[in-house]
Amino acid sequence: MQNIYASKPYYASITGIGGYVPLNKRTNFDLEELCDTSDEWIVKRTGIKERRILDKEFATSDMAVMAVQNLCTQFDKDLSSVDALIVATSTPDVMMPATANIVAKKLDLDNVWAFDINAACSGFLYALDMGASLVETGRYKNVLVIGADNISAFVDIHDRSTNILFGDGAGVVWLEPSLDNGVIDAYMQSNGNGREFLNIEGGGSLHPDSKGLIDVEKHYIRQDGKVVFKQAIQSMAHACNEVLKRNNLSIDQVDWLVPHQANKRIIDGVGKEIKIEMGRTLSNIEYFGNTIAATIPLCIWENIKLLQKGDLLMLTAFGAGFSWGASLLRWGI
Ligand code: UT7
Repeated sequence: MQNIYASKPYYASITGIGGYVPLNKRTNFDLEELCDTSDEWIVKRTGIKERRILDKEFATSDMAVMAVQNLCTQFDKDLSSVDALIVATSTPDVMMPATANIVAKKLDLDNVWAFDINAACSGFLYALDMGASLVETGRYKNVLVIGADNISAFVDIHDRSTNILFGDGAGVVWLEPSLDNGVIDAYMQSNGNGREFLNIEGGGSLHPDSKGLIDVEKHYIRQDGKVVFKQAIQSMAHACNEVLKRNNLSIDQVDWLVPHQANKRIIDGVGKEIKIEMGRTLSNIEYFGNTIAATIPLCIWENIKLLQKGDLLMLTAFGAGFSWGASLLRWGI
């Protein structure tokens, strides 16, 4: 049976990938000094040992630019051919303009369609589907899809339900038309049920006053970890199974699962639910933690040596909103 969601004249293929994480590390032992926690507890309950923290004088756009420059160097790409640039972030440099505009300026790109997507930890998958759709129309030939977040700027360093998880980083892919490889299908979902369980309530039009925000600590990320944990496993597993079903695939035909890196137990939970074979799930949470929209491109970038041209990849993510989804793609590098 033909899958109407996946039929297209050509694919949007990933022809380059880049990443950047700041040098500064925040280890579990650093956190032991800041709140009532331990290295042993954090490793056992999350799989995280350390995360990277951006210096205060920099912002999300700076990491995005570094990731793009890394991609261009590694894959010998010429930025002048880029016609669209999407930044997935929920930690923009400023409220206005879009971080994508700031990135375009820093890269000297004067003629690009640049815009942001805010879908929290699902941001990269949303942006990838958007970027792939632009390529599939035929109107855009070279699209940069960036996931970047400076979440440490919004972490309450003394809140052990968030400070143990989050770190900063940026990842980017370059999309181009291809007849052979690329994004095959994507299943993206969202609802508004998650607001009270995972949010940064300050800084928007509802609470714009920065002095008042600091008094009531609305500028920090807050979450109910248990609720998010359970929803994350169920939603990602459901999205992966949906993509498998409508493409008439069994999980054995997927070469690599690339899940959002939020907690090693969530990653293992999704793998168990969808019954993927041990050793076919990519992960780098141990050293970077949860970098929000950057986790998936950073995880692929770090593990690129494991991938063979033609491998089938299933990407899946879950985040604030709630937002979630899964993408299926054939690796083209
Ligand atoms: O991308 C989406 C973003 N967010 C997420 O994906 C977060 C998903 N949630 C999680 O990763 C986990 O819920 C957390 C890591 C946040 C918390 O882990 P948990 O296994 O759900 O811990 P818990 O809240 O059930 O607490 C278990 C115990 C409690 O002690 P008692 O009552 O059993 O004595 C807590 O007080 O662990 C204690 N605890 C901690 N101890 C040391 C909770 N947090 C900590 C901590 N260090 N950081």
